[in-house]
Amino acid sequence: MTIAYAYNKDFAFNAICPYYTMFPLEFPLRLLKKHRKDSPTVYDPFCGRGTTIYAARKLGLRSYGLDTSPIAAAIAQAKLASADYEDVIALAERLISKAPKNIPEGQFFRHAFSNKTLLQICSLREGLLREKKVTDASAILRAATLGCLHGPLPVPGGSFSYFSNQMPRTFASKPDYSVRYWQERNLIPPTASVIDVLTKKLKRIADLNSASASRIQNVKCLDARKAMSFAKVKGPIVTITSPPYYGMRTYVQDQWLRMWFLGGDEEIDYENHNQLTHTGHERFIEDLAKVWSNVAKRAQDDAHLYVRFGSIPSAKSDARQIMKASLELAGDWKLLSVRNAETSHSGKRQADYMGRESDPASEYDFHAVLS
Ligand SMILES: C[S@@+](CC[C@H](N)C(=O)[O-])C[C@H]1O[C@@H](n2cnc3c(N)ncnc32)[C@H](O)[C@@H]1O
Repeated sequence: MTIAYAYNKDFAFNAICPYYTMFPLEFPLRLLKKHRKDSPTVYDPFCGRGTTIYAARKLGLRSYGLDTSPIAAAIAQAKLASADYEDVIALAERLISKAPKNIPEGQFFRHAFSNKTLLQICSLREGLLREKKVTDASAILRAATLGCLHGPLPVPGGSFSYFSNQMPRTFASKPDYSVRYWQERNLIPPTASVIDVLTKKLKRIADLNSASASRIQNVKCLDARKAMSFAKVKGPIVTITSPPYYGMRTYVQDQWLRMWFLGGDEEIDYENHNQLTHTGHERFIEDLAKVWSNVAKRAQDDAHLYVRFGSIPSAKSDARQIMKASLELAGDWKLLSVRNAETSHSGKRQADYMGRESDPASEYDFHAVLS
């Protein structure tokens, strides 16, 4: 029996922090294995938690990623880092030993974390924000802390995997809702040791210190619509990506607690953070076309573009039409195939992470080559 990558210790790095609408590792790994012999440079202009970047690392390929969400960029950056878990924990211990200057006082934070745990989280936060240069160890520590920041309480007698009172793992519930939820159920924040939780997480990752063909700086928190965001590379390029589905623009708001850890406000951040324009199909298509055009400018030789794209239940949109129109507008790509993601043998579909009402026929895999 084969174990899904998501449950396999050798691939646990990819699960260092969950990310809403991530695609399954099986998808980029399968495609990259086909191209591996040409040693392509791998791109993901909407890299999210860095699934494509990590698949490239596993196959020894150089990769680049872009995302305008600081949370996504922080997680994806870690996927290119290499460090011994003892060094990451030593760094955490050093940062935690310094008392924090600012501790949030709002209701949410008092109910979400015990005093002791919150002090340790704040020390880590300030220590990482003080850093002049992100190192491999600090990139891993940042991503692992984001991954442990909130999630379910352990089962009775079990050990902690998260620092918080009962919360979802993939997104942060709104502050008022969370406080009401905890009060109604009399849920007391647990006294979780930040170091113990991080050690448990990092010890599980078998490839934390494996060789990486790319530097962490290859992932940037930049807008893929801007040509300047793309690194200059030579040789074949394989792009495997998944843009936001039309109408899905709350990547940063839904992760507001992780955004706080990265230096944001203590409240929900309603900034747009250069997300694609979702105010009409035309604007959205134009935005996508800019990104495909930017990739084409970097690709001198053989170039392949694989895109997983679908629609969310609440937005009335035709994913195939949007994607085809954006490729036509970009003008540089020839569409070779469109497959239903369900039947493309690529593992779990991204729509599976979006709730049960997702239309099973609304997620597609597009393959285009430079024309
Ligand atoms: C569907 S998710 C990608 C998920 C990714 N495949 C993974 O496995 O984690 C789309 C991503 O596009 C990012 N995004 C939206 N607008 C962007 C832009 N203008 N430039 C770069 N990234 C953008 C969002 O922040 C989000 O992380």
